[in-house]
Amino acid sequence: MNPIEPASPHAEVRRGLEGVVADKTSISEVDGQRCQLIYRGYHIDELVGRAAYEEVSFLLLQGALPTRAQLAEWTAQLAAATALEPTLLALLQSLPRRAEPMAILRTAISFLGISDDAGDAAEVSLEAIRRKAVRTIALTPAIVAAIGRMRAGEPILPPKAGLGHAANFLYMLLGGEPNRQAVEALDAYFVLLADHGFNASTFTARTVTSTHSDYYSAITAAIGSLKGPLHGAANRKAMEMLTEIGSDEQVEPYVQRTLADHKRFMGFGHRVYKGEDPRAKHLKAIAKRLGEAAGEPKWFTISERLQEAVWRAKKLYINVDFYSASLLHYLGIPTELFTTMFACARMAGWSAHVIEEASDSRLIRPLALYVGPRDLKFVPLDQR
Ligand code: SDX
Repeated sequence: MNPIEPASPHAEVRRGLEGVVADKTSISEVDGQRCQLIYRGYHIDELVGRAAYEEVSFLLLQGALPTRAQLAEWTAQLAAATALEPTLLALLQSLPRRAEPMAILRTAISFLGISDDAGDAAEVSLEAIRRKAVRTIALTPAIVAAIGRMRAGEPILPPKAGLGHAANFLYMLLGGEPNRQAVEALDAYFVLLADHGFNASTFTARTVTSTHSDYYSAITAAIGSLKGPLHGAANRKAMEMLTEIGSDEQVEPYVQRTLADHKRFMGFGHRVYKGEDPRAKHLKAIAKRLGEAAGEPKWFTISERLQEAVWRAKKLYINVDFYSASLLHYLGIPTELFTTMFACARMAGWSAHVIEEASDSRLIRPLALYVGPRDLKFVPLDQR
């Protein structure tokens, strides 16, 4: 091992680690040139609308699509872990009702690390991590639904036996029997956002895991990263943008104002994709159908006009968060919960990456190029 030289003043600094290949993974590939997304060898187009989130979360964690028996077992494990434990429910009810939902979710997941009832929450064996992953994948939708119910001043609903992952979330948040179109739409959303290579929140989870820290610390850190508007909170910002625009006629004036103010269009652009995000076409088609079914196409038509106007003005492509906004809105999900919805989906991907990192870990520790002063001499306090 060569002694690591201090970074030479001529070292190439890759800010944001742009273009840096930090490690290998067999979980997903984000191909920026061909604008393709692959989960464990399956192109996302092969999976969406055909494999439910239960199947895709199994695929991401275990490396293969489940057999019928494996799916039944996996679904039963998730269903058995979906109900909020009394101590977790008490914690949620003790927090300020108007606290930011991602901050509440971050706190709840961190609390799970304290209340892990299977002994040592810091246990880092792959089997222990898999058990914890089932708990967070199952519980996150229940936590998010409880946050939504408490903010609305409505009683928290326990999960309903026999409902699938997406259907149970809609039931726990909105009550009543969710309709088939809504369930299929949310399930597709969960599948499309389940994993995405070394995005900021996933790389955060892997960095924490690389120190041999515990699963809950890694996931709590990932939630903190996803909370940012350049990452997961862009979906909420995109809905706020659509609401501010308000009508098709106001799209062009909004675009001109945003350009003049040198501001960002939320839900546009991507660090890796040099073309359109491969998930966007699916989300767009679902949002269009939901808007027509709701008899309120305006949020979709504003989105489509904005997509065209931003392309004309800046040649920017939409990303996953753009049509997520109108899709989640049409499902009746409050805007303040949008980023927690992203976390519900990505919980499977984060967990798969924690397992992969833990199974063959190398401490993540990049270099920095020091540009501060040198060779200063100490001056006693009363002479400064
Ligand atoms: C997600 O990484 C992942 O995989 C993430 C994700 C996942 O599934 O995990 O795909 C999910 O986080 C998607 C991204 C959600 N974020 C947003 O929608 C926020 C708005 N977008 C950006 O701020 C931006 O596009 C980023 C942060 C997503 C990527 O930014 P980069 O790669 O750092 O590019 P940049 O900021 O250097 O911009 C390059 C140029 C700049 O022009 P100049 O200033 O050089 O003239 O493109 C412009 C930018 O101004 N630009 C935008 C823009 N995005 C880039 N201009 C206006 N609006 C935008 N959205």
